[in-house]
Amino acid sequence: MPDSSIPKFHEKNREERIKIVKSFAGLSKEDTEILKNNGGISFDEANHMVENVVGILSLPLGIATNFKVNGKDYLVPMAIEESSVIAAASKAAKIARKHGGFTMKSDESYSIGQVQVLDVDIKSAIPKVMKASNKLLEIANSKSKTLSKMGKGAKKITCKKLKTKSGTMLIVELLIDVGDAMGANITNTMCEGIAPFIEEITGGRVLLRILSNYSTRRLVRGTAVFDKEEIGDKQVVDNIIHAYEFAASDPYRAVTHNKGVMNGVIAVANSTGQDTRAIEAASHAYASRNGKYTSLTRWKKDKQGNLVGEIEVPMSVGIVGGIVNVHPMIKVCTKILGVKSAKELGCIIGAVGLAQNFSAIRALASEGIQKGHMKLHAKNIALSAGVPKNKMNEVVSRMVKEDSVSVTKAKEILKEL
Ligand code: MEV
Repeated sequence: MPDSSIPKFHEKNREERIKIVKSFAGLSKEDTEILKNNGGISFDEANHMVENVVGILSLPLGIATNFKVNGKDYLVPMAIEESSVIAAASKAAKIARKHGGFTMKSDESYSIGQVQVLDVDIKSAIPKVMKASNKLLEIANSKSKTLSKMGKGAKKITCKKLKTKSGTMLIVELLIDVGDAMGANITNTMCEGIAPFIEEITGGRVLLRILSNYSTRRLVRGTAVFDKEEIGDKQVVDNIIHAYEFAASDPYRAVTHNKGVMNGVIAVANSTGQDTRAIEAASHAYASRNGKYTSLTRWKKDKQGNLVGEIEVPMSVGIVGGIVNVHPMIKVCTKILGVKSAKELGCIIGAVGLAQNFSAIRALASEGIQKGHMKLHAKNIALSAGVPKNKMNEVVSRMVKEDSVSVTKAKEILKEL
């Protein structure tokens, strides 16, 4: 089984890194050419995806090493502009390996569709809808032969009465097993498909027919143990727990804490072509599920004094359909990950979120984040100051050594050199 703990991966050059990834993931020559092609899509492809296209915006794509999730090793592609995120994920995954890595579990891929019914006698409409459940499911499932053939598709109808300022409305909800797709399109199609029959049986007027991005039936949860010796002294472990308790109790801190989780989640979601807005929206709503915004992770100590992290987040992701099928770079990233199902992808994304959160609060609860961050950020600063390649290392190390990382400082050093 391939091993994702690759020593000094960050010190290798691009060719060497690609070679390692190629042999780890069994990439073809075409795949590696796509990786080298800085962006992966042509103008024409982009022009077919969205409207009014004038260009293509690319992001750095890096590989997080050391990940072991449910006993399997992964090299994790992460597309993100923020320095230190990929290094932090790799470092956390390395520490977690000592106790077996991340143990993660995904729910089935249940998507929720909502149909809003107005001008209706709700008391009599609900039993009518429930009585017609089988017929409604049949109509919904006629919209996707593929899901039906796999034993997936629309599974359940529920109704809820909603009191609003503009009157009481009936909301019919459709629970759909969307399998390995993210499932937004099929959910919307099914909702639109059942709407006329709902109007017919209830006498009401259907307005919205749309998926809910609050994917509470599609959670990923998991845990990892971070060894106390690797973390440092006992005080750091205790301080990480104090840092967590701060986030657990204060929404101002919790938002930043969860932003750290999202640094990991969204970077993998980007590289695998997910709807990152849907993931973000659901995560933050989930963080508020008990009436107060709080941390998406939990931290405690085990009997041996090791740090135990837990995460639970909605994870609406897919490995088929949409951009996943058409974007060459995303196809290669999915191949590097080697995931066989949307649930497996969800597990990895959840693990990276937990890893990222660990690294952030560990740094915050010890030396602070700026030292490590600025060390990595110094290169960006030097680049914006116009430092040429052959002077890069010298300028960066002097800025870090002198604890002064800025464009002005980089220019100053360059002048001296
Ligand atoms: C920075 O992108 C993320 C952190 O602010 C997260 C945190 O504060 O936990 C470091």
